[in-house]
Amino acid sequence: MARCMVWICYIVMAIVGSSLIGATEGARAFFVFGDSLVDNGNNNFLATTARADAPPYGIDYPTRRPTGRFSNGLNIPDFISQALGAEPTLPYLDPELNGDRLLVGANFASAGIGILNDTGIQFVNIIRIYRQLQYFEEYQQRVSALIGSEEAQRLVNGALVLITLGGNDFVNNYYLIPYSARSRQYNLPDYVRYLISEYKKVLRRLYDIGARRVLVTGTGPLGCVPAELAQRSRNGECATDLQEAAALFNPQLVQIIGQLNSEIGSNIFIGANTQQMSNNFITNPTAYGFVTSKVACCGQGPYNGIGLCTVLSNLCPNRDAYAFWDPFHPSERANSIIVQQILSGTTEYMYPFNLSTALALDSMKN
Ligand SMILES: *[C@@H]1O[C@H](CO)[C@@H](O)[C@H](O)[C@H]1NC(C)=O
Ligand SMILES: *[C@@H]1O[C@H](CO)[C@@H](O)[C@H](O)[C@H]1NC(C)=O
Repeated sequence: MARCMVWICYIVMAIVGSSLIGATEGARAFFVFGDSLVDNGNNNFLATTARADAPPYGIDYPTRRPTGRFSNGLNIPDFISQALGAEPTLPYLDPELNGDRLLVGANFASAGIGILNDTGIQFVNIIRIYRQLQYFEEYQQRVSALIGSEEAQRLVNGALVLITLGGNDFVNNYYLIPYSARSRQYNLPDYVRYLISEYKKVLRRLYDIGARRVLVTGTGPLGCVPAELAQRSRNGECATDLQEAAALFNPQLVQIIGQLNSEIGSNIFIGANTQQMSNNFITNPTAYGFVTSKVACCGQGPYNGIGLCTVLSNLCPNRDAYAFWDPFHPSERANSIIVQQILSGTTEYMYPFNLSTALALDSMKN
């Protein structure tokens, strides 16, 4: 009898033990910070207008239902999760994110936010970047309670982190209205310098709270999205002021990535030149199998670029033929092209090296 109980106990221990090992030594954890380009649905749980939880969002997602992703299907973090061989990250605010699921990682991103605290104030309840970082610390306490603080530290240090910020600091702040407060305070070059110096603090904080492999994306070609073609362009050419903003922002972001890496003494941060990646299919859509990079699949008005994508909007039949899903966000297929370039692009796209190289380096360390 006693022997039998010991035996059962041993089996139970073996099962519990192997599932924990499976979770911590299988795919590395993945954490996501930033705005709507990478939000997996946190805003579904908030009282805000910045949301994507109604049809036709998610029409090509495996469940065919909206999830809160600003895409017809998968978004950039989803394709990165696939490359890691991991389940997609759950939104941090999702009640289903508990127990062993925490070990996969978490998505803290929130549509509408920017580098600055005053970006996206019109969306009222969104998770600003410093709050996302606080949630990351809270997450670490929860995981420590689950697997012990040493293992939790290992999981966080061994994780891949993605952060996507900056677009909203132009679109939903500086250029939101004519004579916005920020545009009266700063000329564009000074505003970009201010943004970059604030972004550097955010990245440094991410390192200080445990991130050791961080993928940082630049902004896309902000002036070329269907919303800007509809509102700021006369003849379908990309809006020059927003293109200039992206052209100032992205190279300076690469500079601070280099500075941080040399201050820390290790290539923790890798930069993705998402402007160049998107420019390729925007200037030559047919080479990438798109029929258009100017008209959004879902929307209304010129370029389908006015207002929101809703069940009443025009909806294209073949989403894979469109570079833009809605007036601001890439289609699932455009997201997959971007992630392909993040994974295996040359140094023209990735600084100081691509994600495949980073993953290979990290697996040699562990
Ligand atoms: C933004 O808010 C956070 C915390 O709420 C604060 O620590 C930070 O200094 C603020 N940033 C700016 C630029 O005011
Ligand atoms: C990027 O990734 C690919 C394979 O994944 C690799 O062969 C290539 O050399 C890498 N390029 C650079 C410039 O690091």
